[in-house]
Parts: sequence; C-alpha cells; structure tokens
Amino acid sequence: MPKTSFRTSTFTESLIREMSRVAQTHGAINLAQGFPDWDPCKELIKAGKEAMDAGRHQYAVTWGSPELRQALAAKLKVFTGLDVDEKSELVITCGATEAMMVAMMTVLDPGDKVGLFSPFYENYSADAILCGARPILIPLNPPDYTFDPDELRKVFRSGLKAFVLCNPSNPCGRVFKREELNVIAEAAEENDVWILTDEVYEHIVFRPNKHIYFSTLPGMAKRTLMCSSLSKTFSITGWRLGYVHAPASVIAQARKVHDFLTVGAAAPLQHAVVTALKFPSSYYDHLAEIYTQSKDILLGYLDKTGLSYTKPQGAYFVMVDISKFGWKSDVEFSHWMTKEIGVAPVPGSSFFNNAENRYIRLNFAKRPETLHTAGERLLKLPHFLKV
Ligand SMILES: Cc1ncc(COP(=O)(O)O)c(C=O)c1O
Repeated sequence: MPKTSFRTSTFTESLIREMSRVAQTHGAINLAQGFPDWDPCKELIKAGKEAMDAGRHQYAVTWGSPELRQALAAKLKVFTGLDVDEKSELVITCGATEAMMVAMMTVLDPGDKVGLFSPFYENYSADAILCGARPILIPLNPPDYTFDPDELRKVFRSGLKAFVLCNPSNPCGRVFKREELNVIAEAAEENDVWILTDEVYEHIVFRPNKHIYFSTLPGMAKRTLMCSSLSKTFSITGWRLGYVHAPASVIAQARKVHDFLTVGAAAPLQHAVVTALKFPSSYYDHLAEIYTQSKDILLGYLDKTGLSYTKPQGAYFVMVDISKFGWKSDVEFSHWMTKEIGVAPVPGSSFFNNAENRYIRLNFAKRPETLHTAGERLLKLPHFLKV
C-alpha cells in the first residue's frame, strides 16, 4: 500500500478530544473538553427551528449569508468601535477552528515561521504543520503566564511571518494588558509580521480585567486577521459558526481558502444566529456573570485541596499544578484521575511542545450542580499527594 502523508504523521490526535472519550468510558465528569453543559437560550433554539421550517436547507452564500454578515458587522461596531464592511471584510467559517486554519493558510507558505505563545491551544501547532509552516514558541512563564518582551522581540526579528495571539487565552486564562499588546504591536510593525488573533473568549472575562481587541490598537487593523466564534458566546459549540475579519485584500484570499475547504457553514444555523447577534448588551454581562460564578465554585474546591493553580483572568479554564503527586507522566495521571476520582482533566503537556509534565487543565463551563459534584470528588485528591 502507498504511505499516508508524512505531514499527518508528525502530530498526534487531540488529547482534549481523547480525554472526552476517556471520560465517557469511565462515566466521569468531563472537565476536559471546553463546552457548556447547558442549552443556549430559548430564543436561539426557536430561531433554529424556524430556520428549518423556512426552508433554509441549501448552501448559503459561500462567505456567509448577507444577514449574518450584516448583524456581525453591527455587533463588531458595538464592541470594537471598528467600521467593518460586511461585503468585503468578513468571512463566516465553520467555527474558529476553521477560521484559524483559513487565516494561517491565507498568510503562510511552506517553510514560513509562525510564532505561538507556549502553552498554546493545541490546534495551532497542527494547523501550522498542515500549512507546512514551522511553529516557533515564545514562553508564557508560570505562575502568572507573562512573557519576556526581549524574548518576544528576538523571535519577531528572526524572520517570523505571522504570530498567533490567543486572547483571552486557552489554556492559561490570561487576558493580555494593553502594555503587553503594545509590545506585540511594535514588534509586528517593526518586522512586518501578520497577527492572527483567536478571540473566542472575548466575552468571558473576569473583572477587573478587560478584553482589548488587537485590531483596535493604532495601526494594527491592517495586519490583523481577527478570528472568533459564536460557539462560546452563545453556548452553541455544536453549531460550528465562526468568522475571520481582516482588510478586504486579505479577506479576498481567505474566502478562496474557506470556499475550497468547506464551501460554507450550515445555512439554517447561519440564519438562526442572527437573532443572537441582536441580543442587548445585558446578554453579555449575564454571560460573564455566569462564568464568574462557575469559576468561583471550582476555584473554591481547588483551594480546599491545597493544590496550586493560576487564577484565570478570562476564558473558562484553570491550569493546576500536579507536581506534588509525583507522577512521571501527566497523561497517565489524567487517565488515573478520570478513572479513580471521576473527573476528567486535560494533561497539560498537550499545550506545550517541550516535555512539560506538571499541569492539568480543568474547565468550568459547567452548571453549578455539575461543578459541586466534580468539586466534592476533587476533595479526594489530597489523599494521593506524595510530597
Ligand atoms: C482558543 C480556542 N480557539 C478555538 C476553539 C474552537 O472554537 P470553535 O468551536 O469556534 O471552532 C476553542 C475551543 O475550545 C478554543 O479554546
């Protein structure tokens, strides 16, 4: 038989999605894969049913239905202040997952270097490899996950073509401050680097932190491909809706990539989500409030276990230090924890390219009752500490 491609042999399956399967096998609470265990709001479900009844069953316009692009441009105006031309500056994708792949394929050629903060959301390294590009890592240093500006400048000077900025960040929960974003902006300008942002957690930010859209920094809109999603904001991770916003000349290329990858996102769901994009600002305040409560519940239990963790500023994940359990492999620890404690984490090593074994990631996109049950189970952990 002929061989499958070398490229696909150079990365593994997603450990996040694998841990979801392991959780199912053991009937454990899944704090691994990040999705809410509640339904989206009733108006949105109703709009979905109506879209089906209204006969929206065939392909939408490839780069997104005009109504959706219009509604999205209006929402972007409210939250970013940017005037977005929905006719030329947006492409609707199958989630931010496709948006990031489209963004990378739009700006990267084989052999190009793409900068990533480490730890990073695991898709980025696979996406880069699929583009034939080389990921170059810039460490975010625990426990506060800040970066060394000189280290960042050095990487930007090394011939970088693009840099991926996940903000608010998965897995470490950072919401980058204006000073930090300015360092990235200056380095991007000086070295003519594209910035690919992943802002899927834009509305899940904990006070007093504030999300700053990178495209709103002076001079940055022209070099930013802003990727985001409706998955997290409207609790519809299964609807697979996301987008890229960038200057018209960039979107003209991105639309071709998107067209040949997927043709388009699900037409009836594009139609339905317009309803959600018109929700008042109180919707977003409420969302942040719900996640603040979920975070506080999970962190409350972690405090009782005495384990060290980094307080998230945004997104819905917490990185927990497991070094005191004395395991050599975080992957084995995660499997053991899923089976014996009944709560599934993601092994931290899936977010690093180096041999990093001392973290697990837990997500708190769960109802209070789920988090209380998970939390009670986590209280068994201290019995297994080695140090
Ligand atoms: C940082 C980040 N980007 C993208 C995604 C995927 O988003 P979507 O469902 O829109 O594809 C996730 C999902 O966990 C994520 O954490």
